[in-house]
Amino acid sequence: MKLSRSTARSPYMEFAKLRSAAKYNLAASGVMSYPLAELPVHMQDLEINGQTIYGYAPLQESLARKNQVSPDCVVAAAGTSMANHLAMAATFEPGDEVLIEEPTYELLLSAAKYLGAEIRRFPRRFEEGFRINPEEVARQITSRTRLVVITNLHNPSSAFTDEATLTAVGDIAHRVGARVLVDEVYLEAMFDQPTRSAFHLGSHFLATNSLTKAYGLSGLRCGWILAEPELSERIYPGAYCGTAKRACPE
Ligand SMILES: Cc1ncc(COP(=O)(O)O)c(C=O)c1O
Repeated sequence: MKLSRSTARSPYMEFAKLRSAAKYNLAASGVMSYPLAELPVHMQDLEINGQTIYGYAPLQESLARKNQVSPDCVVAAAGTSMANHLAMAATFEPGDEVLIEEPTYELLLSAAKYLGAEIRRFPRRFEEGFRINPEEVARQITSRTRLVVITNLHNPSSAFTDEATLTAVGDIAHRVGARVLVDEVYLEAMFDQPTRSAFHLGSHFLATNSLTKAYGLSGLRCGWILAEPELSERIYPGAYCGTAKRACPE
């Protein structure tokens, strides 16, 4: 069913914000916030805003270093939520197909619906440990699919998807001219092993992340998208005003 924007709702978010008051709440995916006052830094060290809404070069450069990418591949955003919204808005048009894992984080689904996507799903099965089976992706993708959406770690199961599987999904998407959006907000919660963004697997991947989960710094709303330079430029024209591409406008 196609929803108009005024009627697009997110049942999960409405529940999570307004009605999820149980003592042990298994239906929400939040982590406890780390109090900013306990960070051993000064307020000015936490500056993440520039003169314009189009990004702050020191932040983008820090994020680029952290992710080992070129700064013009970074688009800063207000949390992974806004990053996902911007990433979707830039990668498909209303009426295009978007293929989303099932189950998933409900906001990915409602953001895609809000932006007018025709939604298709591919299953991640309980009996298979919620792993991604690329054959299921291949079965559900069509020539009209513009974006494949997955979470890594998987929300709700926290299953990890390795690079070989991500590459296989990327190849399937690439063959029909689709991109793969990987929401990596939980990836760095793999504290016992180093992780690398799916963005490194090819220019048809884009990844979103923030300091919300692994760092517990939700209040900073420090999120980002990693996307190939042409796409990041399309998301926030002129976002990166560092030395790599162009001079900063006065
Ligand atoms: C998969 C996933 N993506 C994004 C978010 C939202 O993250 P942020 O606080 O960075 O907007 C959540 C929060 O629960 C999530 O589970």
